[in-house]
Amino acid sequence: MPLSEETLRGELGGTGALPWAACRLLQAHRSRMATSHMRDLFAADPARAERFSLQVGDVLLDYSKNRVTDETMALLVRLAEEADVAGWRERMFGGEAINNTEGRAVLHVALRNRGNRPVMVDGEDVMPKVNAVIGKMAAFAEQVRSGARRGYSGERITDVVNIGIGGSDLGPQMAVQALAPYRHPQLKVHFISNIDGAHVKEALESLNPATTLFIVASKTFTTQETMTNAHHARSWFLAQAQDDRHIAGHFVAVSTNREAVTAFGIDPANMFEFWDWVGGRYSLWSAIGLSIMLAVGAERFDDLLDGAHAMDAHFRDAPLDRNMPVILALLGVWYNNFFDAESQAILPYDHALRSLPAYLQQADMESNGKSVARDGRAVDYATGPIVWGATGINGQHAFFQLLHQGTRLIPADFIVSVEPHDDLQDHHDLLLANFLAQTEALMRGRTREETQSQTSQFVQHKVFDGNRPSNAILLQKLTPHALGMLIALYEHKIFVQGVIWKLNSYDQWGVELGKQLARRILPELHADAPVDGHDASTNALINRCRHMSRRTAGK
Ligand code: F6P
Repeated sequence: MPLSEETLRGELGGTGALPWAACRLLQAHRSRMATSHMRDLFAADPARAERFSLQVGDVLLDYSKNRVTDETMALLVRLAEEADVAGWRERMFGGEAINNTEGRAVLHVALRNRGNRPVMVDGEDVMPKVNAVIGKMAAFAEQVRSGARRGYSGERITDVVNIGIGGSDLGPQMAVQALAPYRHPQLKVHFISNIDGAHVKEALESLNPATTLFIVASKTFTTQETMTNAHHARSWFLAQAQDDRHIAGHFVAVSTNREAVTAFGIDPANMFEFWDWVGGRYSLWSAIGLSIMLAVGAERFDDLLDGAHAMDAHFRDAPLDRNMPVILALLGVWYNNFFDAESQAILPYDHALRSLPAYLQQADMESNGKSVARDGRAVDYATGPIVWGATGINGQHAFFQLLHQGTRLIPADFIVSVEPHDDLQDHHDLLLANFLAQTEALMRGRTREETQSQTSQFVQHKVFDGNRPSNAILLQKLTPHALGMLIALYEHKIFVQGVIWKLNSYDQWGVELGKQLARRILPELHADAPVDGHDASTNALINRCRHMSRRTAGK
């Protein structure tokens, strides 16, 4: 008979432990692993790298430089089985409303369901709608890219500006950057997200309204930052175009909210729709990807979807112990819940992937940064880690010191493409050599003996403990297909971890309070009388801002 959560908790040592029976075994195993060093595990087992590697299409994951043995992996897979990862996976793919607090299905996989297998939501197959929007996007993108669709003055569109924030910005921005080698040579894509006027000003500074197309991208079409920037862009445009009728040719919307789009003044014919079963941070595959399609064309966008679909198929069909997203997720749980690791570094060795850490930050932290389980109970174990990172090669000269010799254990994902897009092979060789050297150094470290043979001074400072975990993710080349696979890999990793932590990974109630308070504070910034309705610190800060902005305004 399965043990109750309370019994398990007692047996697992109270708070802090994950409430699954497999965790008892994992905890005991963790104690036995305390003194083992990866260097010895490699020495004892020449087949280790091969056994702990997995190739899916053009993506290779080498997870051998982790503090795991066969037993660890078997126990972790047992944990995934016990948490019913397979069942939840079927529920997600099957269109069940697994986002229970919002009563919604979670179907970003339907957006790239290239086989067109029917996907039912509330008794309706959503695939015809999905395909219709992709078709509408493709026709529109082709018109703009070919120059057939022109601006109000008859000139060709040369610049596309995506106005959005969070999931309506980070995904498309990351993908457009990542696929830079595939971009249309006469079309530049820009992104405006920040409410700070400096952002919109800077972005519009060099643009010509007559040759600029705006995409107002917002799932809700109520996000303050996006709507404020969109209104500014419209005024900027009209200051030159002079006639409201020209808006139709220069503003399109991507949203689930037809009414708000119409109220903004965008013709619903110029709206690209998506649905509430697409989470904002999982939406780059939807019409939110319009800027990507404009940049790289419909065919390449299809390749991106194909890549994600290939990873979906692998995730759905492969056994848990040979399943890349599951393995990545389990390793994360291993460090998060059994080694008290608090963060996860994402280190792309690829200039084109420089925005991947920021993208994954939202994907992961907005999904699994939660302390209440899906059933409403407070959790007493660690959930989503702090995700951070930057391009690895730059990081080496900035924060890697802490990765190598700091007091914290920071699991790191190293990502590289073996084949570059440019012809600077010597640069690429150096990049690859550094990528490989860093994971080796983190794993091996340097012993006192090795250090002494090189120098006798300050030996204790030059010893590296090593035994620091990393995953190496190798792509053949950063193509649209490979990028699709990579992003889907992380999406499913996040899903699996959410299941193990018993979370609903698809809501984000934690971002609401700040939004509400900002709405309340906004008019107070210009209030005549001093503000006193908040805590003493917030009151004082608001009043200081009132005072200082009056001084600037000369009042
Ligand atoms: O405030 C957080 C959030 O709701 C994200 O989840 C979302 O990606 C972002 O804001 C933007 O929302 P929208 O696309 O509705 O403007």
